[in-house]
Amino acid sequence: MTPEDKSRIFNLAIEVLKENDRGAYTVPTKGLYPFQWNWDSCFTALGQAHFDEDRAWTEMETLFEHQWPDGMVPHIIFHVHDDGYFPGPDVWGTGRATPTSGITQPPIAGFALRQLFERSADRTAAERRARALLPKIEKWFAWFYANRDPQGQGLVAILHPWEAGRDNSIDWDEAFDRVPTEGIAPYTRRDTQHADPAHRPTKAQYDRYLWLVEHFRGLGWDNARLHDASPFQVVDPGFNAILIRGCQDLAVVAEALGRADTAARNRNRAARGLAALENLWSDRHGQYLCLDRITGTLIDSPSIGGLIPVFAAIPKSRAAAIGQVIQQQATRLKYVIASHDPDDPRFEAKRYWRGPVWLVVNYLIVDGLLAAGETEVAARVLRSSLDLIEQSGFAEYYDPLTGAPCGGGRFTWTAAMVLEFLDIAA
Ligand code: DGY
Repeated sequence: MTPEDKSRIFNLAIEVLKENDRGAYTVPTKGLYPFQWNWDSCFTALGQAHFDEDRAWTEMETLFEHQWPDGMVPHIIFHVHDDGYFPGPDVWGTGRATPTSGITQPPIAGFALRQLFERSADRTAAERRARALLPKIEKWFAWFYANRDPQGQGLVAILHPWEAGRDNSIDWDEAFDRVPTEGIAPYTRRDTQHADPAHRPTKAQYDRYLWLVEHFRGLGWDNARLHDASPFQVVDPGFNAILIRGCQDLAVVAEALGRADTAARNRNRAARGLAALENLWSDRHGQYLCLDRITGTLIDSPSIGGLIPVFAAIPKSRAAAIGQVIQQQATRLKYVIASHDPDDPRFEAKRYWRGPVWLVVNYLIVDGLLAAGETEVAARVLRSSLDLIEQSGFAEYYDPLTGAPCGGGRFTWTAAMVLEFLDIAA
């Protein structure tokens, strides 16, 4: 890529971020996702930090203004009314002053806090803003371990596929079969009016997404009860790795702010998590696998969820094995990293999280591979990511076989990651 190309793409990415900016929060994309999403916002802040650090802090602060009293940070904040999205506030029925959903999402906030804190040019503002966010993020992390790891095993469970962010991953298929569909209220999907239905989850999956929402709503969104009452409890290695890395990064910021107690608690959480993660390793696949907490068995589904742990400080040998899985993929795919093993007959190149490439995932994995010294494979992933942007623009996700853009267009987190990738590539 020439310097001119880089500068053109840099400016186009900023254009997307600004276009989706609603003042104090950013929507993932117009139409399909018209509110604030939790992990999207944290990735967005990383992008905004390249051209407006004040705005980047605000993005995260707005998210944490909607933290629940028990510590949970919801996955959607419904700042405005918009009938173009389903399920809206009435279906969630969480009773919050500004309506929110009742489930959470991957906690990128710990990592994002450290990045903003270390990169900010205005040191006084960074200290003040980090000091205010620190206890809120810690409260969320404590919430995770109290409510999603009730047996104290060191790893937390997701109770709804939307919590992992990887909505229709093959990882959930078996466990999801146990979720009933009887009795759900009639509904009309809106997502398929904005994006090609062939790129989106199926109706059978939506029925189960909604059954879980209605079930949790029936329990009054009481987080102390949801875990044990859920027929779907999956320990996702990727989700846990993001939380572990978040605890590590929070500890670094806490230390810099003189909060040794916070630092120690979070180092301890991370160490316990890393030790427990080892139980999810599969020698056969050379990666981690999800655990079905209801059956107590590993789920035989080699997805991106088992590669994301390179983002946490896993052993070097594990990082090298993950690098090999990606190199192997690169021999048969035009673009990496596919969200599911392309040799698995269940792989679908265009359907959301069952095969497509997602730049946010590439970013987490590149960061981890670089930290582990796996520079060659990291460079390969970086190249694919920038090639996809040049070929197909700022799509929500991409077909790994052809590079075709899929899902929503002019996508905020894709643009944010491009700014990050251009920086890493520089
Ligand atoms: C959706 O509606 O597609 C979301 O992924 C739920 O967060």
